[in-house]
Amino acid sequence: MRVRLFAALAALVLLCVPAAASAAPTLAPRVIGGSAVSIEQSPWQVLIVMRGVSQCSGSLVSPTVVVTAAHCLAGITATDLRVWSGISKTSERTSAQESPVANAVAHPSFDARTFANDIGVITLAKPIDLLGKVRTIALPFGMDALVWPANGTPATVSGWGVTVPSGGATSDQLMRADLLVLAGPGQPCGQYGPDLDPVQDICAGTPAGNIDACQGDSGGPLVTQGVVPILTGLVSSGNQCAKAGYPGLYSRITTFLPWLSAQGSIPTTKPSAATNLAARNDGGRVTVTWSAPPDPGTSSTIWKVAAVPSGQSCVTTGTSCEFDGLPGGQAATFSVSGSNAFGEGAPTALTAPFVAGLTARKAGTTLTFAAITRLAGLTGKPTIKVAPIAKNTCVVRGAKVVMMQAGTCVIQLKKGKARHSLSVQVL
Ligand code: ARG
Repeated sequence: MRVRLFAALAALVLLCVPAAASAAPTLAPRVIGGSAVSIEQSPWQVLIVMRGVSQCSGSLVSPTVVVTAAHCLAGITATDLRVWSGISKTSERTSAQESPVANAVAHPSFDARTFANDIGVITLAKPIDLLGKVRTIALPFGMDALVWPANGTPATVSGWGVTVPSGGATSDQLMRADLLVLAGPGQPCGQYGPDLDPVQDICAGTPAGNIDACQGDSGGPLVTQGVVPILTGLVSSGNQCAKAGYPGLYSRITTFLPWLSAQGSIPTTKPSAATNLAARNDGGRVTVTWSAPPDPGTSSTIWKVAAVPSGQSCVTTGTSCEFDGLPGGQAATFSVSGSNAFGEGAPTALTAPFVAGLTARKAGTTLTFAAITRLAGLTGKPTIKVAPIAKNTCVVRGAKVVMMQAGTCVIQLKKGKARHSLSVQVL
């Protein structure tokens, strides 16, 4: 029985190959019991096309690591794969959305007959920009695999797979369905009997059927909601689709956490606090720098620097941030906190207060454009003009700014699209 059912599943997988490249018209795009969503609602989801003909989904767990199903990668090498992120429709596959693939690894114990160990990892050639539409998703580190996820836990599945159980064209639009986990760890599921290995698979769907993942959804995320969304399972197999008594079977991520952590730099918790926070005054600009903690997967961290009391902030995936136009002459302090798919880590303490953006000159003195450029921490030849508010404190004369009378002289610098300002205290 076990062998026969799984042979049938394997045969189904061969059908899991609707041509993603063909512009098949999608009739009433209704996923099996789901509805259309945009990628912002599943921002970690990527579309994977194998050899230009078959499709799967994957989930970003770091800016370079996509988790997918092993059966999507069986007999496939990196050059057979194309990956797109940040798209809601398969027809939005532009080169700007595509990420070249560096490497693809299926779990070494993947069994194409039983679908055991149906998990794999694709490594992208360069990190995805997490400051745009794309995000990573947290893995269930810290969950108790003996009880989690419990029977009845709400979950979602999303993908560009077929929208009717009878098959046909895959969906152009990303679809998402609400499901329930239908068996706790170790419990039997529907009518699968001993064919379900509860260590390998999570069983999720609805008792009545009608809602399910299907062909073309493989490798895609089964997500449960903790404090943050958690990648809980991967679309793997099932006896047909949306059939009562035969829920979808999802690779159980908690079982594969040791294997996943061995694949590369994947975050396991929210970021630790940064160290060595320092602020430097570059004329009108303040540069804040820090050191990233030695956490695994630090490239997944988005750092946010807050300026107090002005309330300005800047966001980066690097380890420095620049503030322009902080109120000149006022004391400012800064703190930085990192966040990743696990949540926001502890902020650093505030830096010691210092006066931002202030350079002092006596009335009557001049600053050459070259000196202003240098004080603002810029290079090249920006466009320089004094802000209208500063009319009486300084004026532009030739390639110089002349300090006229006591007050704050605000000088605006424009270089390409970037704008900076330098405040000079006229004494
Ligand atoms: N093997 C299919 C694929 O590659 C996924 C099947 C999921 N089936 C299910 N009933 N949930 O796309």
